This record gives sequence, C-alpha cells and structure tokens, in this order.
Amino acid sequence: MKTQVAIIGGGPAGMLLAEMLHSKGIDSVIVEAKSRDYVLSRIRAGVLEQGTVDILRSLGLGERMDREGHPHDGMKIVWAGQDSFFIDVNKHIGKQFMAYGQTNIQEDLFKACDQRKGNILLEAHDVQLMDIASKAPYVTFTHEGQSRRLDCEFIAGCDGFHGVSRKAIPKHVLKEFERVYPFGWLGILSETPPLPDIIYANHPRGFALASMRNPQLSRYYIQTPLDAKIEDWSDDQFWEELKARFPKDIADAIVTGPSIEKSIAPLRSYVAEPMRYGQLFLAGDAAHIVPPTGAKGLNLAVSDVFYLSRAIASFYKSGQSELLDSYSEMALRRVWSSVRTSWYLTNLLHRFPNASDFEQRAQENELSYLKSSYHAQVALAEQYAGLPLEEPF
Ligand code: APR
Ligand code: PHB
Repeated sequence: MKTQVAIIGGGPAGMLLAEMLHSKGIDSVIVEAKSRDYVLSRIRAGVLEQGTVDILRSLGLGERMDREGHPHDGMKIVWAGQDSFFIDVNKHIGKQFMAYGQTNIQEDLFKACDQRKGNILLEAHDVQLMDIASKAPYVTFTHEGQSRRLDCEFIAGCDGFHGVSRKAIPKHVLKEFERVYPFGWLGILSETPPLPDIIYANHPRGFALASMRNPQLSRYYIQTPLDAKIEDWSDDQFWEELKARFPKDIADAIVTGPSIEKSIAPLRSYVAEPMRYGQLFLAGDAAHIVPPTGAKGLNLAVSDVFYLSRAIASFYKSGQSELLDSYSEMALRRVWSSVRTSWYLTNLLHRFPNASDFEQRAQENELSYLKSSYHAQVALAEQYAGLPLEEPF
C-alpha cells in the first residue's frame, strides 16, 4: 500500500488529522491497533476550548456538537466550605467553552471517515515504523492475518502515550520531562441533570469536580489515593464522598443516580521533545500527557494536528519545509503553556498526602488571592482559555 501520510493511531488526534488532511486534498491511511467498539467505548474529558470548537466547525464536524454540547463561560472554584467564586473567561478574555464528550467527537470522526470512505485499518498488530530518518519511510504491521507494508512520505505518530511511535525516536535525541502526582481521580458518568456550572472543589477530604456532558448527563470526579480500587467504591459511597467535599448548598443541588461508567486514572504530566524526528511527527498523547485538571489533553491533540496538517499542506503546495521544520517548536509552545496550567491547577486544588503545614497555608493563601484579586482572575482566565493558535510566520 502507498499513501502520502501514514497515521499511527485512530484516537481523536489521528482521526482528526486524517479529516484535516483530506480537506486539503492530502491522502492518508490510519493504522489503529484496537477495534472500533473499543475506541468508541473510552470515556475521557469533555471540555473544548473555543479554538477547538472553531476547528471542528470549520471541518464540518460541529453540527452535533452545536446541537448537544453545552456552551459555558468559565468555571467555579470553591474550597473548605467557603463561598464559591467564578472565573469568567468569557468576560475577561472573550472566549467560551463547550462541554462535549471526547467519546462523541470520536463518533463524529468515525462518521466523517465513513462518509468520505476514508482509509482506516482497525485491529492492526505489530505496527513498526521503518526508515523514519529517510525520505522514504514505511510502516509494517499485520492486518486480518496478513503482513502488510505501507509506504508513505510522512508518518504521524498519533498512537497515544503507550504507542510505538515515540519509542522509534532514538533515545539520545529524545528529552523527557515528567511529574507523577501522588493521587488519582475516580470519575463517574451518570444520567442525571448536571449542576449549571463546572465546579472545582479543594476540601480537606480531597479534590472534587462537578462537570457535565449534556443536560441529562453528568460527570463527577473525586481525588483518591493511588492504591484505590474501583471495586471498593459503590455508587452510594461515591455520592456520599462527593457531596462531603462540596459546601452544603452545592451538595444539596447534586442529583444522584446510578453510574453508567466508573473508572480510576492516575495523574501525570509528561512532555517529550522534540516532537519530530526525520519524517516522523508526533501529535497528541504520543508526545505529551497532562493531568486532567483543566481538561487540556484533547485540546492539545487538536492544536498539534492543526499545526501538523498546515505544515504538511504547505509542503505539498509550495515544496517549502519551513513549517515542517518549525512544527515541534511551535506545537511545544502551546503544549508547555497547557502543561504548566494543568500542573498549576493540580497543585492549587488537590490535597497532597505529605504536604507540610507551610505548603498547606501557601495553598490556602493562593486560593484567597485568586478569590479576591481581579487581576489574578484575568490571568487564570487567559491560561485556562488556552493560548491562541499561532499564525505561520
Ligand atoms: N499501533 C496502532 N495504534 C495504536 C498503537 C499501536 N502500536 N498503540 C496505541 N494505538 C492507538 C490506541 O488504540 C488509540 O486508539 O492509538 C490511539 C491513541 O489515542 P489516544 O490515546 O486517545 O490519544 P490521542 O488521539 O492523542 O488523543 C488525545 O485523548 O488520551 C486522551 O487525554 C487525552 O484527551 C486527550 C486525547
Ligand atoms: C470533564 O468534564 O471530564 C472535565 C471537566 C473539567 C476538567 C477536567 C475534566 O478540568
């Protein structure tokens, strides 16, 4: 087989890249390890930045999002039983957010791919990236019991944190930056009406978050110890613990019901630099991971593939490689901005198991400052909104 761009991984990054390339007349083949059902069953974050919403709309992928998603202006923060305060991103920065689940985006992407008869090879095994430093790279894998070879001009490594693409970059080239946090998030999805706002809580019992997917679907999270086991958390225990972490007025407004999904995820910040080696370009979780606080992961995957598709299109149009050469640097500016913001929010809102009294007081002071300072709120609003996408030159 032959294509212009071989895309490894059919998560949001890989499938969106394929749509973007298609809209610019560039051919691609997606090679995905899992089945369609498996990919569609993953429940992940669901807050889209304005830039992400604009990109999805421009590709014709906004119709269902605009129908079912919930636009909102910012988020509330509350701590230790005090009154909550609202970070009004729309007022300060003029940007909104959209609550719309990644699972829905993935469904919309499969639909778009089906409609244009896009090339996606599911359940492809033993994927290997070959000759990536040459101008004629290729990918080998097993599909439907047969050994296959896919020749291409570019490889997009969109295969997530545990994929093979990043590992194909020689160790002496790649620099890794990492922070592992001493807790996880237990999240549930429930078919109950959500609270009107996204609310982050810092409580002596730990962090909690109230979020939403649509008017009949709520998403809630609580901080749990690293060794917490999902079997140990019944729905009733979850609701009780969640409510205990919010002030009474908010807790009373939470509508409980059976969970339709429940999972625990550890928190980690990770960045690999550079995001390019030869003809291999990394995008999304393959290159970086953020803790879920701030819901930046999907938005970063979208900005990466936006820059990458623009760079590849510019190469085919003009024969110039400037944008390909600056891809890693440009993408990483946005990545580090969101990595820093989600690290800041994680530090601000969680209870760290071994925090000293000093650290505890400093965290409380930061929250008071944020609550009382207009300027601090504007600064956080700007970071929470995500950096604007950069123009090419
Ligand atoms: N070969 C082919 N495909 C692979 C391989 C492999 N060796 N390894 C992993 N994959 C596939 C996975 O099955 C998955 O479908 O790559 C895809 C990667 O998808 P994601 O992990 O969702 O990563 P990405 O597309 O970058 O999306 C980023 O998803 O993980 C969340 O928080 C993250 O919201 C962010 C977004
Ligand atoms: C979510 O809805 O899943 C969500 C919302 C806000 C966050 C993280 C996750 O900061």
